[in-house]
Amino acid sequence: NLPRRVRIHEVGARDGLQNEKTAVPTEVKAEFVRRLAGAGLTTIEATSFVHPKWVPQLADAEQLFPLVSDLPGVALPVLVPNRRGLDRALALGARRIAVFASATESFAKANLNRTLDESLAVFEPVVRHAKDEGVHVRGYVSMCFGDPWEGAVPLTQVARVCTALRDMGCDELSLGDTIGVATPGHVRALLSLLDGEGVPVDAIGVHFHDTYGQALANTLAALESGVSTVDASAGGLGGCPYARSATGNLATEDLVWMLHGLGIETGVDLGRLTATSVWMAEQLGRPSPSRTVRALGKP
Ligand code: HMG
Ligand code: MG
Repeated sequence: NLPRRVRIHEVGARDGLQNEKTAVPTEVKAEFVRRLAGAGLTTIEATSFVHPKWVPQLADAEQLFPLVSDLPGVALPVLVPNRRGLDRALALGARRIAVFASATESFAKANLNRTLDESLAVFEPVVRHAKDEGVHVRGYVSMCFGDPWEGAVPLTQVARVCTALRDMGCDELSLGDTIGVATPGHVRALLSLLDGEGVPVDAIGVHFHDTYGQALANTLAALESGVSTVDASAGGLGGCPYARSATGNLATEDLVWMLHGLGIETGVDLGRLTATSVWMAEQLGRPSPSRTVRALGKP
């Protein structure tokens, strides 16, 4: 019982690059976004309006966003941690934002310098104001399947944060396996609990990291549970600067290979996408960790 079509939420330009030590030139980032759009991706997370000292790589958000905001048919969500971030995004005409909560206290502190409840209290007026402006809001929930400081994370704790974000008015949630420890049974259990709590499955996206090689298996489990929005990062770029042991995101190419093999539409041209990741790997000076990019990207 699989979806006919999957919407890929491409996070390479944000989640992928945020951890890069050397500053990637703004024009290279813009070219990356344009090439991703050219490969058929229609939801491309562009950048974050966070504090530039916390994520120096994305300090050029004001310069980057206008360079890519006129791509036809492409939605460009941006991360905002608070009202200041929302105002910066709205000033540039952003029409989609994402707030980012944590299922655990430790990561709320590390990532947002707030307790979990303090961070939810910061998001509440941000989401309300965004909705008043007609802006689409995604709510990320990190550490849904395990936390580097706290270990196992109770499913009920995840559900509490998901419900709080939905009650605020988030249109969509993204369930993050920030450190890549989930396995398919765990994914099914969380989705089943959220279903029981009345969170509609079409408002849920999944965000897997491939630390233990489980990201595709977890994705398939989520699709079988009715999910049809999947986050992925071109070339498998990324990690999270505020989470120990977070390695690359699920590579978009690996995801597309599996989905097309299953007969599921994505709208993505795998050849063009692979060429984009090969080009980006050259910019970064190291090969893509994606198996599909390595298999298809050979000269
Ligand atoms: P703080 O130090 O507590 O900030 O950081 P504050 O509220 O005390 O403000 C201090 C100063 O920062 C003030 O300036 C504010 O105006 C300024 P001052 O008055 O001292 O001159 N400030 C800002 N400046 C620019 N833009 C802003 C902003 N906000 C405050 N938005 C803060 C709190 C939330 C700002 C900080 O912790 C932060 O920026 N965190 C962002 C961390 C981040 O981006 N992490 C990565 C994304 S999450 C992720 O990757 C996981 C995900 O991929 C899913 C998964 O895999 O799980 C989504
Ligand atoms: Mg992530």
